[in-house]
Amino acid sequence: MYPYQRPRRLRKSQAIRDLVKETRLHPDDFIVPLFIVEGKNIKEEIPSMPNYYRMSLDLIKQEVKDLWNMGLKSVLLFVKVDDTLKDNTGLAAIDDNGLMQQAIKTIKNAVPELYVMTDVALDPFSSLGHDGIVKHGKIINDKSVQMLAKMALGHAQAGADMLAPSDMMDGRIGAIREILEKNGFDDTGIMSYSAKYASAFYGPFRDALDSAPVDEADVPKDKSTYQMNPANRKVAITETLLDIEEGADIVMVKPGLCYLDIVRDLANTVEQPIAVYQVSGEYAMIKAASQQGWLDHDAVMLEQLTAIKRAGASLIASYFAKDVVKLL
Ligand code: PBG
Repeated sequence: MYPYQRPRRLRKSQAIRDLVKETRLHPDDFIVPLFIVEGKNIKEEIPSMPNYYRMSLDLIKQEVKDLWNMGLKSVLLFVKVDDTLKDNTGLAAIDDNGLMQQAIKTIKNAVPELYVMTDVALDPFSSLGHDGIVKHGKIINDKSVQMLAKMALGHAQAGADMLAPSDMMDGRIGAIREILEKNGFDDTGIMSYSAKYASAFYGPFRDALDSAPVDEADVPKDKSTYQMNPANRKVAITETLLDIEEGADIVMVKPGLCYLDIVRDLANTVEQPIAVYQVSGEYAMIKAASQQGWLDHDAVMLEQLTAIKRAGASLIASYFAKDVVKLL
């Protein structure tokens, strides 16, 4: 005798599968990372990120118009600056006329409604490739936080809608919230990289920005004293609750695929929107395997992004944003 319950009834046709589908991807879900370089008419492909580019500001203007017309409403800005501008304290990051500050103004000018988020971290400006200031082989937390707060204020003054601190220093969300409030930027948001793991999947991004930690004596060789240990789960909740208490509007898990258990833990724990950063290495893997003909690019891309959303993310920063939106 067959059971009365036959789950396959709800999988019988496309129509019923669509009716009972729980997770849908939508252009509104996506944040588009942009890599910006100094200069004119520059569009260079990042070797470890096929079909992804560093662009100069004159070309970024058209790019953001195209994104907006495709229905993509937010960007997350990263800048690659010349080595001559880098030092241990990341001083160039707080130059009012720096590349990031110019980028914010240029983009806001080109598409005023586009929601502009900015990366707040020292590594693209650090001669040592760290997200904090290095002293005697250590990352100095509180001095780094002061610098990050100044950097965040500068981005807000240039017109950024939301600041995205990706550094994992202790207390930086509180310091950034405070400096923003004191200066009248009460409606500038913070998307905190609250659960950011010390991941090997950031490799292609570090190629893109030339921001990897340098191999020198008295410089930590990796980021494991500030980014979280991939072996740990509970600390993701501790870090995220702290960031919310300190004033984060949106919290983030990074990378995506390997950390979907963390996304679900947070979705069950906090009320704030959860973002996931599907990082450069995740992008590179899909590109590489599909170029070999070993995986179906679009199918794998959609499956991974759907899984990220199903796990509990409501926003996804992804290098695939344009590719997905074309398919939807
Ligand atoms: C650093 C930063 C990194 C990424 C975003 N911000 C790399 C790192 O922590 O070394 C990685 C993003 C990606 O891999 O796509 N502040």
